[in-house]
Amino acid sequence: MRSTGSYATSTTLGESVRAFVPNPLPPGKPALAYVCYMEPNRSAEMALARLSGVTGLVPSVDWLLYSAIRKEALLTSQIEGTQATLIDLFDKEAGLAVSNTDDVEEVTNYLRAFRLVQQNLRDPSGLPLSIRLLCNAHSLLLDGARGTGKQPGELRRSQNWIGGTRPGNAVFVPPPPERVADLLADMERFIHAASANDLPPLVKIALVHAQFETVHPFLDGNGRIGRLLISALLEHWGLLSEPLMYLSGYLKQHQSEYYRRLSAIRTDGDWEGWVSFFLEGVAQAATDAERSIVAIASLLATHRRTLLASPKAGTASYRLFEMLPMMPRFTIERVRRSLNTSFPTANAAVKVLEDLGIVTEMTGQKKNRSYSYQHYIELMT
Ligand SMILES: Nc1ncnc2c1ncn2[C@@H]1O[C@H](COP(=O)(O)OP(=O)(O)OP(=O)(O)O)[C@@H](O)[C@H]1O
Ligand SMILES: [Mg+2]
Repeated sequence: MRSTGSYATSTTLGESVRAFVPNPLPPGKPALAYVCYMEPNRSAEMALARLSGVTGLVPSVDWLLYSAIRKEALLTSQIEGTQATLIDLFDKEAGLAVSNTDDVEEVTNYLRAFRLVQQNLRDPSGLPLSIRLLCNAHSLLLDGARGTGKQPGELRRSQNWIGGTRPGNAVFVPPPPERVADLLADMERFIHAASANDLPPLVKIALVHAQFETVHPFLDGNGRIGRLLISALLEHWGLLSEPLMYLSGYLKQHQSEYYRRLSAIRTDGDWEGWVSFFLEGVAQAATDAERSIVAIASLLATHRRTLLASPKAGTASYRLFEMLPMMPRFTIERVRRSLNTSFPTANAAVKVLEDLGIVTEMTGQKKNRSYSYQHYIELMT
C-alpha cells in the first residue's frame, strides 16, 4: 500500500493522540495511476467546455452568474448545516424580511469571501493564491456572531479533530498545530510548481482540496474554504472562466461518500478513488449547470416574446424585465430605485409584467406588496 503520511504525537485535552501528517503533493510511490483519471478527466473537461459554451444563449453572463454563485454559496453552507434557502437569499437582497438571519449571514459571508479571492486573482497586482489570501477569505467567512471564538483569519493554534467527542475517539486527527503552516506552504508550492504540470489541472484541484481538508488548518470553516479553493482554481487554471458550476450540490448529495473518500486517502492510500469521485462530480455538476442554463434561457426567451408582443408594454417594463434574472424578488420601491423613476411608473411597469403572468404578487395585500419571478426561481431550486 502507498504511504500517504506519517503520525506525530500531539497532546491535547490532557491526552496524547496520534495526529496524521500528510506527505507533500503529489502522491508518490506509486505515482497516481494514469488509467484511473485519464478518461474521467476528459469527460469532466468536456462538460466544463460545454458549460462555457452554453452561456452564449443569454445576452449577459451576469444573468446566469447571479444565481449560480448564490447557489454554490448556499449549497456549500448547507453541507455545514445551514438551513437558509435560495429564496431567503433573494428576499434579503430585496430588503424583505427573512426569519433565519444568522444562516443567511453565513451564506452572504461566503459570498464576500469568494468575491475577495476572485478579485485578488483577477487583479494583476492582487494577492496570488496563497495562505495569506485564504486567511483573508476565512476572516470574512467567519465574520459575525458564529465566528466568535473560532479565530477568524488565523491558522489554528490548537489540536482539532473530526468526528467523535474528543481526539481519543475521533475519526481523524489532523496534523499538530505547529505543522500547519509548513504543510500549507508545501501545498502552495505544489499549486505554483511548473513540475506539477504533467497532471491535468482538474486532477491537481482534486489533490489540493483533499490535502487542504487533511491539514484542516482552521478551527472551523475548513470545508467551505477548501471548496472555495476549488472554485477559485477552476477559473485560475482556465477550466471555467466564470463560476457557473455548483459542485457543492454534488458533494452535498454524496456527503458520506465525500467524507469516506477523503478518509480513504489517509487510511488506504487511495488517492485514485478520491480523484475519480471528484472528476465524476465535476462532470455531473457541469452537466447539471448546463441543463439549468438551457432551461433558463428558454424561459427568458419565451417571456421576452410575450412582453414584446404586448401592446401595454413600454420602456419601463422592458427595462424591468432585463433586471429580473438579477432581481427575482422585489418590491415596487426596489423597482423604483433600480429604474431611477417615479413610484407610479414603477408600479405600472410591474403591473404589465404581472398581467402577462411573468411575475406574481406574493402577499395578497393592498399595501407593501412584494413580487416574485416565480417561474425562474422554480427552475433554480
Ligand atoms: N474524514 C475526513 N478526512 C478529511 N477531511 C474531512 C473528513 N471528513 C470531513 N472532512 C472535511 O472537513 C470539512 C468539515 O470541516 P469544518 O467544520 O472545519 O468545515 P466547515 O466549512 O465549517 O463545515 P462543512 O465542511 O461541514 O461545511 C468537510 O466539509 C470535509 O471537507
Ligand atoms: Mg464547521
